[in-house]
Amino acid sequence: MAVTGIMLVLFLIAHMLGNLKVFTGATSFNHYAEWLRELGAPLLPGVWALWMLRIGLVVAVVGHIWAATTLALRARAARPVQYAHRKKVQGSYAARTMRWGGVIILLFVIYHILDLTTGTLNPVGDPTRPYANVVADFAPERWYVTLFYTLAIVSIGFHLRHGIFSAVRSLGQQTPRGERRAKNVALVFSVALCAGYLVVPFAVLTGLVS
Ligand code: HEM
Repeated sequence: MAVTGIMLVLFLIAHMLGNLKVFTGATSFNHYAEWLRELGAPLLPGVWALWMLRIGLVVAVVGHIWAATTLALRARAARPVQYAHRKKVQGSYAARTMRWGGVIILLFVIYHILDLTTGTLNPVGDPTRPYANVVADFAPERWYVTLFYTLAIVSIGFHLRHGIFSAVRSLGQQTPRGERRAKNVALVFSVALCAGYLVVPFAVLTGLVS
């Protein structure tokens, strides 16, 4: 769970930094997307490096879901008889929404790929012009797309907050002081990542990026 989670977090950081290039203008943003496709050249032909990254990402997502399912089944097997009176578990909101949060994020990623990678659901839908695709996506009249992205990104924030804290714990951090520190780090990191993602649709919505 922790290892695949860390792989996904590294992707999220890189993707967020890449998205922020939208503020440097259309030419620079489109050039960056083109560079991604040519990554590894001339050592590797065509889009090989990109496909290797994509395969790594799919392995991480499948591994993450597989680990979550195994852990859930193991937890259930450890307590085959239900408690007669089960006290309400007072975990944080983030901890209690991990499963549904994960499902929402997965549905978002499927929509997002059809929107900005293949262009199928995008008003411009030209994979060679990612800047135009992003600007068309978050235009004011398509406020519901921005709303959907916002909900998905906030879900990612909650998921990350609990996920990072759990990963630090799984990897050996157990003292009460260390746990408090891990909680704060997880919160600050999640808020910063959410802000880094949300600034793009809101910049388009408000006309800052056009
Ligand atoms: C407002 C936030 C976001 C924006 C503006 C954005 C923008 C983009 C763009 C423009 C592409 C297409 C790149 C290209 O093909 O040239 C893309 C691809 C992608 N994005 Fe995002 N993204 C956002 C949030 C996210 C989030 C939160 C995730 C993950 C949970 C994500 C996962 C992906 C994936 C998996 C791809 C496909 C990469 C590939 O295989 O080529 N994105 N995004």
